[in-house]
Amino acid sequence: MRRRYLYVSLVLILFVCCHIILFGLVPDSATFPSNDVSALGERIDQLQRILDEQARNSARLKAFVDIELRKLRDLTTTTTTIASSPTSLTTSDVTTKSPAANANAQNQPPIAVLVFACNRPAAITYHVSKLLRYRPSAVQFPVVISQDCDSIPVADAVRAFGSNISYIKHESAQKAGIQVPSNHAQYASYYMIARHYKLALTHVFEKLNFSAAIITEDDLDIAEDFFEYFGATRPLLDSDRSLMCVSAWNDNGKAGLIDANATELLYRSDFFSGLGWMLTRRLWEELSPIWPAGFWDDWLRDPARRQNRACIRPEIPRTSMTNQGKVGASQGLFFSKHLIKIKLNERPFSFTQANLSYLLQDRYDADFINNVYASREVTLEQLQNQTTSADSKALEAVRLTYTSAKEFSGIAAKLQLMVDFKAGVPRTAYRGVVSCFVNNTRVFIAPPRSWTSYDPSWTGPPDIIEG
Ligand SMILES: *[C@@H]1O[C@H](CO)[C@@H](O)[C@H](O)[C@H]1NC(C)=O
Ligand SMILES: *[C@@H]1O[C@H](CO)[C@@H](O)[C@H](O)[C@H]1NC(C)=O
Ligand SMILES: *[C@@H]1O[C@H](CO)[C@@H](O)[C@H](O)[C@H]1NC(C)=O
Ligand SMILES: *[C@@H]1O[C@H](CO)[C@@H](O)[C@H](O)[C@H]1NC(C)=O
Ligand SMILES: *[C@@H]1O[C@H](CO)[C@@H](O)[C@H](O)[C@H]1NC(C)=O
Ligand SMILES: *[C@@H]1O[C@H](CO)[C@@H](O)[C@H](O)[C@H]1NC(C)=O
Repeated sequence: MRRRYLYVSLVLILFVCCHIILFGLVPDSATFPSNDVSALGERIDQLQRILDEQARNSARLKAFVDIELRKLRDLTTTTTTIASSPTSLTTSDVTTKSPAANANAQNQPPIAVLVFACNRPAAITYHVSKLLRYRPSAVQFPVVISQDCDSIPVADAVRAFGSNISYIKHESAQKAGIQVPSNHAQYASYYMIARHYKLALTHVFEKLNFSAAIITEDDLDIAEDFFEYFGATRPLLDSDRSLMCVSAWNDNGKAGLIDANATELLYRSDFFSGLGWMLTRRLWEELSPIWPAGFWDDWLRDPARRQNRACIRPEIPRTSMTNQGKVGASQGLFFSKHLIKIKLNERPFSFTQANLSYLLQDRYDADFINNVYASREVTLEQLQNQTTSADSKALEAVRLTYTSAKEFSGIAAKLQLMVDFKAGVPRTAYRGVVSCFVNNTRVFIAPPRSWTSYDPSWTGPPDIIEG
């Protein structure tokens, strides 16, 4: 950066010197022999040529200086793509030509894996090693690591991956001096995160021109079939406009709440869970102009943004949390009670070989609703009576009914499910229905069949605090 400033200073000095020299060449009018008209004409022509030449030089110099200044401004005020020594990072691929123009053997457009990093070197090393170990193709899943904080150990950890990844370093939020409302001083990290998302997504979609991206964070672990999952669900986002994203996370994906055999099972969900999720450039083009200064995930869950769209989520999570997450933006208690207990899938499933058309809204909604309301309605007591005596075989599906926020949270608490709502939507719910699997029984926690929409005034119990 210092070298850049020096360079631009030199250019400016050169620019000024040229003007002085050129003006110096213009003879003083007092030396003109005023009585020699033809000589005077010649002098005027000569003067005109000198001035024209000077104007051309000035315009060239000015254009040159403008370009250099613009480059410098880009580097300092927006983002910096750091290329270290030529042997380690090769960012030339991502900065000069669009990798999105490449296509893999199956003619699938590549999906960027955008990794958010800040100040946790051990986390980024573990996370990226996992991504590189499991990704089937570097062409189909280019990894782009985006760093906000100025942590040198993280930059070093990233460089160690050499040309297997590309790296973008933004001017840190601290240096950029972000605006945080005074009553939100304790939430400054949420403003930094929202700013980082905006910068990184702009880079991936607007500069690199990818048509889809998977967003991960350095504290996530991934399942072996993580890329199978996203690769296979990618086309659904194009063919079904009622889908907003695909997420690898299941908010109720704890051991004892999921069917460990159902490696193939996917759902539609009205709850945006994030934590390893995929979006298309189409969605980014919609969100980018209105992107918020803070709390972007709750902002996205607002009915005004979600617009009744759903995400795909798995029964068995394809992301989980590593211990690195404990020191993140989320509250410690939420981490130890919930996040760390989410169970990663251990038996890979070949999603790309499966027919996932059942997830398209046209087919899914009617089947899902029929399935849910065809199940036998039971009370919590009846469920407990049934399930305590279960052997290892899956039993008939049952349904528990709720008609209020309090009733939902009460049932959820008994079953150890997440009890809270965001914008009126319970975690993992689709059309109000939360599905789980306890004691070998598929259990639907469902509103009455006459349900039509969520009530944003349904909010979580006050003791649930999270990040
Ligand atoms: C990059 O990936 C290749 C092939 O997977 C591997 O051999 C190489 O060691 C990796 N380089 C780094 C710096 O991780
Ligand atoms: C960006 O990608 C789209 C296809 O997704 C392509 O039509 C378009 O030409 C690309 N734009 C640039 C500038 O490469
Ligand atoms: C996927 O399943 C649907 C519905 O069963 C069927 O109509 C469609 O042909 C199947 N697609 C493929 C490629 O098998
Ligand atoms: C549960 O089982 C016990 C003993 O088998 C029985 O007495 C009780 O009535 C049952 N409760 C319900 C709600 O079915
Ligand atoms: C599941 O079974 C255990 C005992 O095997 C029992 O204590 C528990 O209440 C049951 N859970 C539910 C939700 O019925
Ligand atoms: C899970 O699979 C195992 C082995 O295939 C089987 O014995 C068991 O009954 C299955 N459990 C459920 C709940 O389907």
